Amino acid sequence: MDRIIVRGGNRLEGSVRASGSKNATLALMAAALLTDDEVVLRNVPRVRDVATMRQILAALGVPSDWEPDDEHALRIAGRGDRGRPIHPEAPYDLVRQMRASFLVLGPLLARCGIGRVSEPGGCAIGVRPVDQHLKGLEALGAKIRLDHGYVEATASHLEGARVNFDITTVNGTQNVMMAATLARGRTEIENAAREPEVTELATVLNAMGADVRGAGSDHIEIDGVASLHGTEHDVWADRIEVGTLLAAGMITGGSVSVTGVAPALLDATLEKLRETGAGIDVQADAVTVRAGGRGHGVKAVTAPYPGFPTDMQAQLMAVLALADGSSTITETVFEHRFMHVPELVRLGADITVDGRTAHVRGVGALSGAPVMATDLRASAGLLLAGLAADGETVVNRVYHIDRGYERIEEKLRRLGADIRREG
Ligand code: EPZ
Repeated sequence: MDRIIVRGGNRLEGSVRASGSKNATLALMAAALLTDDEVVLRNVPRVRDVATMRQILAALGVPSDWEPDDEHALRIAGRGDRGRPIHPEAPYDLVRQMRASFLVLGPLLARCGIGRVSEPGGCAIGVRPVDQHLKGLEALGAKIRLDHGYVEATASHLEGARVNFDITTVNGTQNVMMAATLARGRTEIENAAREPEVTELATVLNAMGADVRGAGSDHIEIDGVASLHGTEHDVWADRIEVGTLLAAGMITGGSVSVTGVAPALLDATLEKLRETGAGIDVQADAVTVRAGGRGHGVKAVTAPYPGFPTDMQAQLMAVLALADGSSTITETVFEHRFMHVPELVRLGADITVDGRTAHVRGVGALSGAPVMATDLRASAGLLLAGLAADGETVVNRVYHIDRGYERIEEKLRRLGADIRREG
């Protein structure tokens, strides 16, 4: 079981390029099911979740492979002139590893008239039901039944409809949007998620011949078409990895530039970091943070885009653990996303949780210790704390980090961190 050992105290300085977005990539890989043609995605991060989605596509009968001359280019096979069949069932042992597998349901339903995906369990951060996904697909005409732990959606054909989500859901919006591209007539999605990963998916679907309008707003319209064709696409930078690397610069009192990103994708994150006193410079495709001393406490509330992202909550908490003064962080998206708190306390942080709000009082220093990663972003928060803690911090169960960050220890080492991985 890999672990990462970091010796804190080094100021991080320099420039690093962000990888492509893990979450956007997963949706785009699911979208490849909507066409018989080949789809090529570039700037794909080499992370565990992408490997899992490759296994799921392969289990559905859609192989993919990395380009020989570009380790970040993924070629997802078309069905060839023999019309290789798609097997419309995503197996339990893969789906249980990654909730985002549920994103294949909409495309399978639209292409094959049937999709069977194991019900994704909850995970460390919450129950995470899929009721809104199913509400949307039913509105398009799908019959949904639960069959021995599998969600089965069937429809002879899909009819455009009005879908009004009760709760803003990123993957729910993406699932319904993908299915609607091949439905007959117009679909309107109200209370749609506005995340950049929704906008990027719509951009690629339209490049494949779909007719999606309004992505990025809470009202999306899709006029169904008969079929979609292949495309090539450069995946946009991972806005959460960018925020994480900037937070690493801040917590170590350094100065870090992250390149390859459209800064507008992470406005709320940059605004919150500025509020702590950090200096933030924005260029066309890069962001530079200069720590303003220890920084001072702030009030943060996570919210769906364009609000402060829940996926940056643990990382901000690590920074605030060493800021001057007190902070509050309220987690409104997931009901159980404070698993990093007890581990940060083990490093000497002064944090108490009251329901959905964490109260953080800045301390003079953190001290290194062995800690346990519980979920992807909590692990990132612990790593950040270790970069600033006195002595050595060992982050165990690093596979959580590898789900969403490509070789994070190499990126941090290039910035001056004393960090290594042990198998
Ligand atoms: C996406 O998850 C991301 N994952 C998550 O990133 C991210 O935290 C989340 O959006 C919020 O931004 C991927 O894109 C693969 P939601 P998603 O549906 O779509 C509830 C990471 O660290 N809900 O927007 O699954 C749900 O329980 C991961 O990279 C329902 O009640 O999140 C949650 O409380 C973690 N019913 C809220 O909505 C549903 O049918 C928002 O979840 C669907 C969701």
